[in-house]
Amino acid sequence: MSSKLWGGRFSQATHGAVEQLNRSLPFDRRMAAQDIKASLAHAEMLGETGVLSSEESGRIVQELQVIADGLQNNRIELDPKAEDIHSAVEALLRDRIGALAGKLHTGRSRNDQVVTDLRLYLRDAIDDLLPAIERLERVFMQRAEENQSVILPGYTHLQHAQPILLAHHLLAYFWMLERDRRRFQQVRKSVNELPLGAAALAGSSFPLDRKRVAERLGFDSVIPNSLDAVSDRDFAVEFTAAAALLLIHLSRFAEELILWSSAEFGFVELSEAVTTGSSMMPQKKNPDVAELARGKCGRVAGDLVNLLSVLKGLPLAYNKDLQEDKEAVFDAVDTLAMLLPAYAEMVATVRFNPERMRAATQGDFSTATELADYLVRKGIPFREAHHLVGQVVRHCLDRGHGLETIPLVDLQNISPKFDEDAVACLGVEAAVSSKTTEGGTALSAVQQQILLARQYLET
Ligand code: ARG
Repeated sequence: MSSKLWGGRFSQATHGAVEQLNRSLPFDRRMAAQDIKASLAHAEMLGETGVLSSEESGRIVQELQVIADGLQNNRIELDPKAEDIHSAVEALLRDRIGALAGKLHTGRSRNDQVVTDLRLYLRDAIDDLLPAIERLERVFMQRAEENQSVILPGYTHLQHAQPILLAHHLLAYFWMLERDRRRFQQVRKSVNELPLGAAALAGSSFPLDRKRVAERLGFDSVIPNSLDAVSDRDFAVEFTAAAALLLIHLSRFAEELILWSSAEFGFVELSEAVTTGSSMMPQKKNPDVAELARGKCGRVAGDLVNLLSVLKGLPLAYNKDLQEDKEAVFDAVDTLAMLLPAYAEMVATVRFNPERMRAATQGDFSTATELADYLVRKGIPFREAHHLVGQVVRHCLDRGHGLETIPLVDLQNISPKFDEDAVACLGVEAAVSSKTTEGGTALSAVQQQILLARQYLET
């Protein structure tokens, strides 16, 4: 018998180049455990439904378990010349039990097999990923809690806008990650549906019990349409999209750390354990983890576009194009698995420099809005107040000093509504502590936010 699962109708050997092109074993071998797990459930079900005798099913199950163990502790090896993981596992089974191995594929096709494997694989990957995201959320939370009294220039357009608490800034990333975590939990639900039993595309004439297989494999439900079951990769798109978005969030704080650790900002110092040096310039300490987070973001966005492009215009049902789904998904999984622990370490150990942050708020006009709000409280419409304070800013700029050192008389020359207490609202502490609205940057609001964040984490 040909070593190929489909050799019967062929009289000519596959061309070597085609053999190589067609082979997916180099990348789908990582689904070996999932492939066997799915085969175990299928074989048991075939025994229960009487499609195979209980002796046949029992024997197949027993030997599959031996193969699973053997692969895991490297006592058994996959034949590197096999076409894919499915052929490779079946060949191992044939080595052990001969022709009986051929009964395992009853009522099954590689089309429903491969996507079942991929779903099982992705479910495991998500289960590994979720704690890594949660760990990073806790790091942001902890750094926020430690830095509740530190004031930072808040930016819009990367120009000083209004002063904020560093804790508030860090918590913004907590919420991005919290959405990511919930998004991956949603994706897990899309992943956790059973394709097996769809066979090649049309279903099977054997009395397969798909619900039983779903139960065994821990799937929430059985995919209701066999064509959809073998051709749907939405779950893989959803996963890769969630991964790309997570990376986008990571790249944003990465960019800030890169800026903040430059001499111009000096807001942070990254730990030596997460930085690298230069082979030529002895003084350098480079923020590589942050830069790689920023760089890998492009790579995972590419994985998503790759997957979407594979799916575009694909006619039903299975097409070999779908073999191209796996590397994109695996790359996204691997990238996150490698990046998240390093990134968490970087955030956990970054040293903030409150003096530099504080100093950056001096003379930066970031309390100009406070002064406008002051006039509003005196009954002046905001538009007019905005215009008047614009004149105050112009006046200071012309004299080469900041807002905080403006003499009261100069203020009063611009508007008689300015009283002695106007000067008090020019301080950054006052500005920060006045933003008491829900979600605002005042300490009281930030502490409320921390309580809420904790509740989210616990559910
Ligand atoms: N290696 C294939 C894949 O990754 C498995 C399914 C092959 N099915 C087929 N009809 N040739 O998609």
